[in-house]
Amino acid sequence: PVPLIIDTDTAQDDCVALLAGLLDPRADLRAITMVAGNVGFEAQVRNAFMTLNAAGRLGEVPIHLGCTRPLVRPWVSAEDVHGDGAGGLDMDFDGCEPEREHAVDALVRLAAERPGELSIVAIGPLTNIAMAAVRDPEFAANVGRLYIMGGSNNGRGNITAAAEFNFYVDPEAAKAVFAAGFDITVVPWAPLTLDQAVFDQTALDEIAALGTPLAEFFTRVCAATLEFDRSVGIDGTTHPDSLTAALLLHPDLVRRSARYNVDVETGSELTRGYAAMSWGVHGLPDNATVVEDVDAAGFHAYIKALLATPTQPA
Ligand code: BDR
Ligand code: CA
Repeated sequence: PVPLIIDTDTAQDDCVALLAGLLDPRADLRAITMVAGNVGFEAQVRNAFMTLNAAGRLGEVPIHLGCTRPLVRPWVSAEDVHGDGAGGLDMDFDGCEPEREHAVDALVRLAAERPGELSIVAIGPLTNIAMAAVRDPEFAANVGRLYIMGGSNNGRGNITAAAEFNFYVDPEAAKAVFAAGFDITVVPWAPLTLDQAVFDQTALDEIAALGTPLAEFFTRVCAATLEFDRSVGIDGTTHPDSLTAALLLHPDLVRRSARYNVDVETGSELTRGYAAMSWGVHGLPDNATVVEDVDAAGFHAYIKALLATPTQPA
């Protein structure tokens, strides 16, 4: 199994990405680290605990609280998209507390314990990852693979025309991470996940028909974003974060990827958080692999199989 940390702003598709880390036999989820992003910090922590419970693994994976705002800017959250991030779900996690160790310290420690072996799936703003790289100059080298959900490869953002949410919220952190020497794979919002990681009504009906507690959990946590996505003309609920986790654990789902130089705009307000993905003709050294095409049917089947897992929430 892959030793793994998921760095997350737990709402909707983040919860499903956590399920991959918790239930896929290929994953050895060592910690969940929390970063300011989608919804209020307390709601994010609650959503992470409820996901542990839904997976029948409450108390088994430590949750570390990380940075509660971006490096230099005020936090922008997305409750208009996500609601509370879990469709009003109210599951018990009595007696469970987050760890006392800060997420940045946990990231640095766990990477240093097994240099080159730990993978990170970063599916929120990159604040914790950037802070860990500042904290420990060896951090980037100690991390094996860093899979990032963020950016758009054709300028079609989801929060502004230029920017995808995770890079928009903390562009300085994203810029620092791409300059830090990590072994990075990027799973961009558009065109990739917008085209290939959407669960439409047919897929949602198939999932509901599974009849498992996890299928019910999925339907519930996706409810708010489904409504939002439909209101903006997307035919279903978008799942970039669980796709990112799935691709790390099952690289055979990648159909095409290419090396790019990725840099992130921090100066302009109009294009704040824009991910410039430069290819060979621009003459810049590559620093990341960008996923361009995936086996979408394989990804859907993977998520369905996860949700078919019989679990016993407390
Ligand atoms: C990203 O922002 C959030 O809405 C999702 O969880 C995903 O990580 C997509 O832009
Ligand atoms: Ca996320």
